[in-house]
Amino acid sequence: MKKIIVMAVALLLSSVAMAHEQGDWILRAGLANVDPKGDSDSIDVAGLVTLPGVDVADDTQLGLTGVYMWRDNIGIELLASTPFTHDIDLSNLPVKAGDTKHLPPTLSVQYFPMAGSGDFQPYIGVGLNTTIFFDEDVDNELNLALDEIVGLPAGTVDASLSLKQSWGLAAQVGFDYMLNEHWMLNGAVWYIDIDTEAKIKTAVATVKFDVDIDPVVYMLSIGYKF
Ligand code: NI
Repeated sequence: MKKIIVMAVALLLSSVAMAHEQGDWILRAGLANVDPKGDSDSIDVAGLVTLPGVDVADDTQLGLTGVYMWRDNIGIELLASTPFTHDIDLSNLPVKAGDTKHLPPTLSVQYFPMAGSGDFQPYIGVGLNTTIFFDEDVDNELNLALDEIVGLPAGTVDASLSLKQSWGLAAQVGFDYMLNEHWMLNGAVWYIDIDTEAKIKTAVATVKFDVDIDPVVYMLSIGYKF
């Protein structure tokens, strides 16, 4: 009996040691997939034709999250990653519009309801995202489509694309599963409100339209607690 009590206490202590505590730092690295769920305004090409907008494809990159435990049950997390690259197509048309890279750093406050009670630590979070777009490219298929719309010889239009930096809110659920005192598995899902304005510029006209990217971000990672 005594032995069982000692074992039970040891088990309890070990699981207490594994729970997150105020002052802990956690670093996680894994795969992050950004899957756009939003939609785009239609595109009025200088009054000549209205295109049905654009679709933005998903991409997977190396995701990094860093957490500082401000309290035993409240963490502050920064999501970072290597740059995502998204293909952009004209909606409902077999025309590639281009592609863009972006970085979507997101700072969240997280609540761990089961803090102090074991290896499995689910959490919910709310945060602020900014998404910075860069290296926007126009595909030649879009240039050729614009040539045709405007009635110019193929190869005339040389458009450029730019996407405005966005600011928006993020919501998150996730969990840490402690493998031992330091190492953990993590799964996390964010919904991020990313609303940007696209600008397609040609020598003759500039077209602006709103694009709501509003992705779900999925991440699976391995973490280490200091
Ligand atoms: Ni939105």
